[in-house]
Amino acid sequence: MKALLRLGALVVAIVAVGCINVSVSDQSEEHTAQVSKRAASAVVIDNILTRRSIRDYREEPVSREQMAKVLECGMYAPNAMNKQTWAVRVVDAPDFIASVTAIAVEQMPQLREQPNFRNFFRNAPTVAFIACPEQSYSGEYDCGLLSENMMLSAWSMGIGSCCLGSVVPVMNSDAAKPYLERLQLPEGYKLLMAIAFGYPAGDIPTPTPRDMSKGYYIE
Ligand SMILES: Cc1cc2nc3c(=O)[nH]c(=O)nc-3n(C[C@H](O)[C@H](O)[C@H](O)COP(=O)(O)O)c2cc1C
Repeated sequence: MKALLRLGALVVAIVAVGCINVSVSDQSEEHTAQVSKRAASAVVIDNILTRRSIRDYREEPVSREQMAKVLECGMYAPNAMNKQTWAVRVVDAPDFIASVTAIAVEQMPQLREQPNFRNFFRNAPTVAFIACPEQSYSGEYDCGLLSENMMLSAWSMGIGSCCLGSVVPVMNSDAAKPYLERLQLPEGYKLLMAIAFGYPAGDIPTPTPRDMSKGYYIE
């Protein structure tokens, strides 16, 4: 009988210690999860606040593996009714970039005066062309969101970027027609902008100030 009681007491003790351990480890797991959530949030916010338009790049193109991830992040952007009204064409072919640069220089000879001028795409070795349907109420919003996802995901991998609206009139000019055609945009799509991508050369520019008074609560 005594032995049975001792065994019973032992079982109760083991269960009790187990419960304390479980609740301690539950708490520490929760704490660890909270800490890593805060750390992840700080990383995301830092990524957004430190992104800058980069206008000088190393010569080597962005690796196609990394660009595939950048494209995937772009395509997971919110978009109206999930119609995905965008077309993205990534170009890292030096002949394409050099030929469009030659056309742009012909049209705007002053481009050559830019410091370290190598190409019309702010010296980027990789360029994404972003297009949306000519007739679509959401295409431009969708593409804007896609573009920012692409640029932020790129930045998180150390890849710089710069939106380039100035590319559109050049690409739409008669001289650049063969290159616009090479992009194989779907029928009825218009080129909205290009995004330069590449590994930054030199210093990252300091943030351009933002006017925080442009957004506030209404009580
Ligand atoms: C629609 C659009 C078009 C732009 N076009 C050009 C351009 O043609 N050339 C250029 O150097 N930067 C261009 N930019 C980049 C802006 O100048 C830049 O985002 C802005 O000055 C804020 O600087 P930050 O990106 O470093 O924060 C463009 C940006 C947007 C959103």
